[in-house]
Amino acid sequence: MNRFITFEGGEGCGKSTVLKAIKERLEAEGVSVVLTREPGGTPIAEQIRNVILDKGNTAMDARTEALLYAASRRQHLVEKIWPALKEGKTVLCDRYLDSSLAYQGGARGLGVDEVLSINLFATEGTYPDLTLLFDLEPEKGLARIAANQNREVNRLDLEKLDFHHQVRNNFLALAKRYPERYVIIDASKTLPEVIEEAYRAIKERE
Ligand code: TYD
Repeated sequence: MNRFITFEGGEGCGKSTVLKAIKERLEAEGVSVVLTREPGGTPIAEQIRNVILDKGNTAMDARTEALLYAASRRQHLVEKIWPALKEGKTVLCDRYLDSSLAYQGGARGLGVDEVLSINLFATEGTYPDLTLLFDLEPEKGLARIAANQNREVNRLDLEKLDFHHQVRNNFLALAKRYPERYVIIDASKTLPEVIEEAYRAIKERE
């Protein structure tokens, strides 16, 4: 098995919790799994992450932000994702390319195709084999974050509600644009149900 699976969605959609549960389930079946996240995933990429998400960096320009995400992604691919795929591992990645398309391309207004083009340069055209979209109303996601003391609030969480609605709509539009690799999961269900749905989607698309 050699698969690159990405987990996408808005703030508080629960994807990171589901990711851990899926990893455990696949490993229990003997699948060799690498769990990683963006922005970050390697020391250099994590340093870039700190610059992007720093709440003090309010002056950050939207194109700078998009380029930093793409730079972090590149480093992550080179050091971690490509080697793992080459070794036949299954890579589960918390956010990837589609987050840049939805957040920087759509919600920040840079244009999905423009952001795609810098990302094609960064990734040399590496798309995920499967993308699970954890779809949730932003009001519910943000309420979950507010209730969860363990989850640190970052610069993007602080955006207005309208921004998060745009992000959601952009992800849904991406699911239509790339139906061959997208599965939409209803993230408003209970955690065990969401985990089950995500697991089934992975198994059905094997
Ligand atoms: P993180 O703390 O990992 O949040 P989450 O648990 O929601 O994934 O922060 C990542 C933030 O970066 C999140 O607000 C989404 C944003 N982001 C982009 O805007 N573009 C990107 O390309 C990526 C990977 C993330």
